[in-house]
Amino acid sequence: MDHFTLKDGVTHAEDVPLTLIAEAVGTPAYVYSTATIERHVRVFREALDKVESAGQPTLVAFAVKANPNAAVLATLAQLGLGADVVSEGELLRALHAGVPADRIVFSGVGKTADEMARALKAGILQFNVESEPEVETLSAVAQSLGVTARIAFRVNPDVDAMTHAKISTGKAENKFGIPIDRARASYFTASRLPGIEPVGVAVHIGSQLTDLGPLADAFAKVGQLIVQLRTDGHVIRTADLGGGLGVPYDPTVPHPPTPAEYGAMVAEATAGWNVRLIFEPGRLIVANAGILLTRVVRVKTGAAERFVIVDAAMNDLLRPSLYDAWHDIRAVVPRGSKMTANVVGPVCELGDTFATQRELDVLEEGDLAMFMTAGAYGATMASTYNSRALTAEVLVNGADYAVVRQRQPIEALIALDSVPDWLRL
Ligand code: LLP
Repeated sequence: MDHFTLKDGVTHAEDVPLTLIAEAVGTPAYVYSTATIERHVRVFREALDKVESAGQPTLVAFAVKANPNAAVLATLAQLGLGADVVSEGELLRALHAGVPADRIVFSGVGKTADEMARALKAGILQFNVESEPEVETLSAVAQSLGVTARIAFRVNPDVDAMTHAKISTGKAENKFGIPIDRARASYFTASRLPGIEPVGVAVHIGSQLTDLGPLADAFAKVGQLIVQLRTDGHVIRTADLGGGLGVPYDPTVPHPPTPAEYGAMVAEATAGWNVRLIFEPGRLIVANAGILLTRVVRVKTGAAERFVIVDAAMNDLLRPSLYDAWHDIRAVVPRGSKMTANVVGPVCELGDTFATQRELDVLEEGDLAMFMTAGAYGATMASTYNSRALTAEVLVNGADYAVVRQRQPIEALIALDSVPDWLRL
C-alpha cells in the first residue's frame, strides 16, 4: 500500500500534486512519501509481534543501502529503527541521521581496517563478520583501540533463495559469509582472539524473496547452529536474520508473502532460541514509498514499435537494465485510455529500456509519468553515465514537501575533473 493516489484526476503524493513538484523541482526526480514509510515500519513491527526476542525489543535495522537519503534515514531514526550499514559512508550517514550507535550493525564482505576503527570508535552494536581473515583484522584493530568488538559470523547456509541470480547471496558458491558447516571452527578461532567477543549469528540469503521456504530452511540451519555453539560454550545472545522479503512490483503477478506471513514463519522458526532478534529489511520499508517522476520528451514510431522517450534513464533507475526488473509505469494525469509502447530513456544503449510492449496509460510529449516502487535501490544506484547529473529527491509529508537532495548542477559534476598541466594551452 502506498500514498500515491489520484485525486481529481491528478496523482498526488499524500496531499501534494505531483504536477506541482514537477513544476517546482523539475524532472526527473525521486519523490518519497513519509506516510508510506511510516506505514511499512508499522506493518513490519506488527508482523513481528509474536516473535520471541529473549525479553528484549527486536531490533529492526534498516538496510541503508536501499535508500541512504539523509531525510529518509532521519524519518526512520525517529521511528526508532536501527541501521544495517556496509561502508564507512553508510555508517556516517546513519549516525548523522540520529541512529544511535547501539542500533547499528556493520555488514559487508570487505570491511577495511579503517572502516572497522571508525565503527569501533562509534561504539556500534555488532559486526557481522564474513570470514576468519576479517575477524583477525578486526581483532588487531580492536586491540589497538583498547576495545572489544562484538561479532556475529554471517553464515552461508547454502540454500537457493529462488530470486534473481544477481541478488542471491546464500548459495555455497556465493562470496558471502562463512560456510555453515565450518562455523563451529570459526567461532572457536574467534573466541580465542583478543578484542573479539562472539555474541551472535547472522544470515541473509538474498533480496526480493517471493517464497518463504528458503528463508525457513536457512533459519532452521541457524537454529541448529545456535544449539551447537552453546554446547561448545559460546554465549549466543543475538540472531540477525537479515532482510530480503520481496515487495509487489507487478500487480498482475502473484504477490510475495505478506509481512504477517513472514512474521508467523519467523515466530515458528525461532521459537525457543532465546536470543535478541535483529532484522535488516530494506526494500520492504522504502520500495513502495518512492516513485521516479519523469516527463515524456517525445514519442516516436519506429519500424513497428512505438517508443515513449522519457527524461529519466538507466543512470537514474538502473534496476530494469541490471535485473530485468519490472516497474509499473503510469501517467501522472491519466487520460483514461491505454496504449502499447516501449518506454525508453535517452541514454545511448539498448539497455536503457524501462518497458517493452507495455500496455500503459496513453502518454504524449510533455506528459508527466512515474515509475512506481522506486524508493528502494533507485536513487542510490544512480550514476552520471552520459554525463547526466544525479537527480533531485523530494520528501512529502502530508501537505508539505521538501527537496531532500538537490539536483546535481552539471557544472559541479564537471568540476570534479581536472586537466593536468601538460594539457593546458
Ligand atoms: N542485509 C544484507 C546483508 C544485505 O546484503 C541486504 C541487501 C539487505 C539486508 C536488505 O535486503 P532487502 O530487505 O532490501 O531485500 N540492488 C538490488 C538489491 C540488492 C540487495 C543487496 N543486499 C535490487 O535493486 O534489487
